[in-house]
Amino acid sequence: MAAIREFGAVAVRRRAALVGAGHTRFGALPEGPRTLLRSAFDQAVESVDRGFDRTILDEAFVGSLGFSGWQIGNLSAVLAEEAGIVGAPVTHVENACASAGSALRAGVRAIESGASDAVLVAGVEKMTDPTNARRRYWLGVSGDTEWERLAGLTFAGVYGLIASRYFAEHGDARDALAEVAVKAHANGAKNPNAQFRRPVTREQVLAAPRVAHPLGLLDCCPVSDGAAALLLVAEENAKRFTDTPVVVAGAGAGSDYLALQERTSLTRFAATRWAADSAFHAAGIERKAIDLLEVHDCFTIAELLALEDLGFAEPGQAGPLTLSGATRLGGDLPVNPDGGLKAKGHPIGATGASQAYEIFHQLRGTAGERQVPGAEHALAHNVGGSGASATVTIFSRGAP
Ligand code: COA
Repeated sequence: MAAIREFGAVAVRRRAALVGAGHTRFGALPEGPRTLLRSAFDQAVESVDRGFDRTILDEAFVGSLGFSGWQIGNLSAVLAEEAGIVGAPVTHVENACASAGSALRAGVRAIESGASDAVLVAGVEKMTDPTNARRRYWLGVSGDTEWERLAGLTFAGVYGLIASRYFAEHGDARDALAEVAVKAHANGAKNPNAQFRRPVTREQVLAAPRVAHPLGLLDCCPVSDGAAALLLVAEENAKRFTDTPVVVAGAGAGSDYLALQERTSLTRFAATRWAADSAFHAAGIERKAIDLLEVHDCFTIAELLALEDLGFAEPGQAGPLTLSGATRLGGDLPVNPDGGLKAKGHPIGATGASQAYEIFHQLRGTAGERQVPGAEHALAHNVGGSGASATVTIFSRGAP
């Protein structure tokens, strides 16, 4: 791989701060996308300690894949209506499963550049309406459709291939994958917004029906509905809204070839590595300062890859790190305290905003049973498709 380039890592020093965040339940929900967006937005406004007048919003960004074609192209107008900001510019960002992470980065850039003082970032997906066959089709649109799909590969199949290759390079890691699922479900049980709130055992994970070798049902994230919304302002104005803002210290992103066969490695996601290096560069902090991670565990193998690509484990070492218990709540480096995509659910376009919602609470000390004590810095990692795009955002507790 070429030397890490610093995409977007310009020396910006006007920073964006989160002052409010809202989140619907994730799962198979009766509500449609409009209601989900409105509910997440209303909650975000209500969460602002000193109140938030929506008319100050300069612009908005909304992440969504448009799963099953329910609404492609006009989602910006839907958000403008539901947030009550018709007239303000709204941009729909589609970057597969990294849609909301990318929308967040766009919102952060709007503030960092001085173009905007207050920005709404939202993400939404409605996935449970279509039939199973149609779901499978739409899950595949985020990967390569000319070669991989023609060969009959499902999306779980893509990650099954990646897991098989990882085992070939580093040895059988099934126990570590099972631990990822057990941890995710244990954390999800503590999250009232999670789709799955039932703990599972290692034995249940290993005995679950196979979906795509070597991955079973409990190695997969579910199909989910849901939305999340974030309110960002310029850091210097944050005190008008709260004494406990959460600052975006660095927002990085990267891309890679769409098809697996074009990449130099199946077990390293270059997009994540670009994104992480530029985010850390911008934030000016080291990995050891990070207190918790929200990583994109769409399949259990993806969490191991994330730990390695983000620089928290050497290649092949994420399994032992996971089995040591370090990534559990109470461990040295808690990963996905909210249950992650695996147990909290993964409404594609909402996930990046949902990760930021969790970090907003963790860094303000309001995460309840899931609280990582004294957390000051946290990282969110959102991946598009099978690694062709990624965002990494580093957050820090703001000055009171
Ligand atoms: N984890 C745990 N339990 C799950 C589950 C998951 N991922 N998916 C479904 N279940 C449970 C359901 O709750 C249901 O339980 P119940 O019988 O007690 O009610 C049961 O399994 C059957 O559910 P169903 O929806 O019929 O499953 P399915 O076989 O249609 O779908 C998967 C299962 C794994 C194929 C599907 O969830 C999937 O495709 N996940 C991956 C989604 C994806 O690729 N997203 C993009 C990633 S970037």
